[in-house]
Amino acid sequence: MQVVVLENKRVIGSYFKMRLSYDGVLNALPGQFIMMKVNNSYDPLLSRPMSFHRIISPNPSLEKGGRGKFEILYQVVGKGTGIMSGLKEGDKIDILGPLGRGFLIPDWMDRAIIIAGGMGVAPMMALTEEISRHEVKKSKISISVFMGVKTKDDILCREDFERIGAEVYVSTEDGSLGKKGTCVDLLKELMTNTPLFSPPSEGGGCGGAIFACGPQGMLKAIAGIAMDKKILCQVSLDKRMACGTGACLGCVIKVKSQKYACVCKEGPVFDAGEINWEML
Ligand SMILES: Cc1cc2nc3c(=O)[nH]c(=O)nc-3n(C[C@H](O)[C@H](O)[C@H](O)COP(=O)(O)OP(=O)(O)OC[C@H]3O[C@@H](n4cnc5c(N)ncnc54)[C@H](O)[C@@H]3O)c2cc1C
Ligand code: FES
Repeated sequence: MQVVVLENKRVIGSYFKMRLSYDGVLNALPGQFIMMKVNNSYDPLLSRPMSFHRIISPNPSLEKGGRGKFEILYQVVGKGTGIMSGLKEGDKIDILGPLGRGFLIPDWMDRAIIIAGGMGVAPMMALTEEISRHEVKKSKISISVFMGVKTKDDILCREDFERIGAEVYVSTEDGSLGKKGTCVDLLKELMTNTPLFSPPSEGGGCGGAIFACGPQGMLKAIAGIAMDKKILCQVSLDKRMACGTGACLGCVIKVKSQKYACVCKEGPVFDAGEINWEML
């Protein structure tokens, strides 16, 4: 599929946001991703995986032809993302997607804890927007977003989350904003102070669920806490990807149910209990 750059601008420092439009049907879910061919040359040869940051459905009544839009939020870390940062309005890009499995929103959930470590914030905006459109027992789902970053200059999208109605809690490793520490510390604090945060009760009651994306160590710690408290937890894994479709086997991990899974095809979102964390 070919998409067109509508806007590509620096958010702060090395972080950029790109808005793209497409013709046709995309049907993307939060947590799914695209493989993006950043230019037309053989260098770099491989496409780069990028999450859907915002998924904006076409509105035929507002726009002729009803072109859909989506946004990606990215950090410039190397050659591919460096090229992406130079793309201009009107540039055309080849993408493959939506790929992989996204987050599932349980119909009993009345409280969502969304945990984003570093660039793990990218897919969590699409997820938060989607959850905010759901209701349980005719009430809105309460959403808390925990963001963990190195320093205050790495905080992204805080106002956007708040605008959707989420409560936002921040941790920084250097203590420059919010709690000094990581978002795992924020989660531990919540678990101690909020007895109401519980798994679904027997007989179809409501309950809380955790959704997390970020560095592997953070996800492992969160998975441990969630499994200990028997709380449903979905994590989005980050693995370097060459094909994004399950063909090259470059992103294989060990899981419990089967022996191996491709993060690009069976993931990137997994139930935390599915992953063999010791073999990751
Ligand atoms: C499913 C998925 C979704 C992603 N979504 C986003 C997103 O929404 N926004 C975003 O900014 N990034 C995202 N990433 C990471 C992104 O794909 C890489 O940062 C990008 O491919 C780097 O390309 P590059 O050519 O700029 O860097 P390279 O020149 O290839 O590498 C530069 C440095 O970045 C490191 N690096 C490269 N790829 C990864 C990776 N996947 N994870 C950790 N370190 C890496 C390399 O080890 C090297 O140190 C996602 C990755 C996956 C697997
Ligand atoms: S990236 Fe090729 S199999 Fe997953």
